[in-house]
Amino acid sequence: MIIPFFNGSSQNAYLIEEEKKVLIDTVWTPHKFDFIENLKQEIDLKKIDFIVANHGEADHSGALPALMELIPDTPIYCTAAAVKSLEGQYGKKGWNFRVVKTGDEVDVGNGKKLKFIEMKMLHWPDSMATYLTGDNILFSNDAFGQHYAVQELFNDKADQCVLKHEALKYFVNILNPFAMLIGKKITEIKGMGLPIDMIAPSHGAIWRENPMQIVEQYEKWADVYQENQITIVYDTMWNGTAQIAHKISEEIQKKSPETVVKVFQIAKSDKNEVMTEVFKSKALIVGSPTISNDVMASVSGWMAFLKQLKFKGKKAAAFGCYGWSGESIKILQEKLKDAGFEVIDENIKSLWNPQGEDFALIAPMVEKLI
Ligand code: FEO
Repeated sequence: MIIPFFNGSSQNAYLIEEEKKVLIDTVWTPHKFDFIENLKQEIDLKKIDFIVANHGEADHSGALPALMELIPDTPIYCTAAAVKSLEGQYGKKGWNFRVVKTGDEVDVGNGKKLKFIEMKMLHWPDSMATYLTGDNILFSNDAFGQHYAVQELFNDKADQCVLKHEALKYFVNILNPFAMLIGKKITEIKGMGLPIDMIAPSHGAIWRENPMQIVEQYEKWADVYQENQITIVYDTMWNGTAQIAHKISEEIQKKSPETVVKVFQIAKSDKNEVMTEVFKSKALIVGSPTISNDVMASVSGWMAFLKQLKFKGKKAAAFGCYGWSGESIKILQEKLKDAGFEVIDENIKSLWNPQGEDFALIAPMVEKLI
């Protein structure tokens, strides 16, 4: 899935320089030459004792084939699933894989060790985290990341509003489908009794100031999270469905001023930002006119993505205009149910343009959702 980066992004690879020199992850293929040149400025590549591949997705492994051409015998520590994903993407090149699982350790000298923690399906089968004892750093790969380029690298140097929003948007759009696994995994890691002084993800800011804040946020977000918010998402042909959207918004604000209402015309909105607002909401109201016995493609495409994110514990309702056949309400309701929403019967199905009798149906709908 492509996510627009409004605040930049980064692919973070890390070099550990103890008695052993260890590279954790690489970067995406288009950056491979810059990556290798930058790495050469830090270390003679032949002095790298081994590589840790926390995750096989191309944004972290894309430079690996070019690097391995230069140091072909270097051991690569990764999960069994990562051997499959790396060989699947780059071919069987005879790389020196060392398969690890949760609890396995490797000595890096100076009294420090790396401990491996499998993070299966967070968010690929091959995902894992690596923990450095002594410095107490958790290299968490995708978990706890953000698509946010922070020039000074650390969370305490970042704009806190942007950091919080980008961390949430990342969680919603990438990790929420696996939310059920996140609470269990955090409990498992806490149960290992590892002190954590720093969390170094593979995207965005490194959490060095109060690193557990992002772990606590993940626990909340993974537990059927919602705020007092309702989100309205619609598209419109000749503005009738748009009129209903804004009337619904006005009714919510009238009946429940403390409820935050967000309204998006989906064809003109960023899909990932809209998903982030739906995640924060207790209810979603979706509108589309009927077109060719269906809903508008902008709405149905977005709803296919909505289903993938597996939101839970949210109510939903449908609205829209029609000229003759009028299938959109039923289709929207079915799509919302299919996406896991509790759909109420109340709806606004307006012939041609909304009139007084249509607007009169808004209050009972809103009553069920606030
Ligand atoms: Fe799952 Fe950042 O790649």
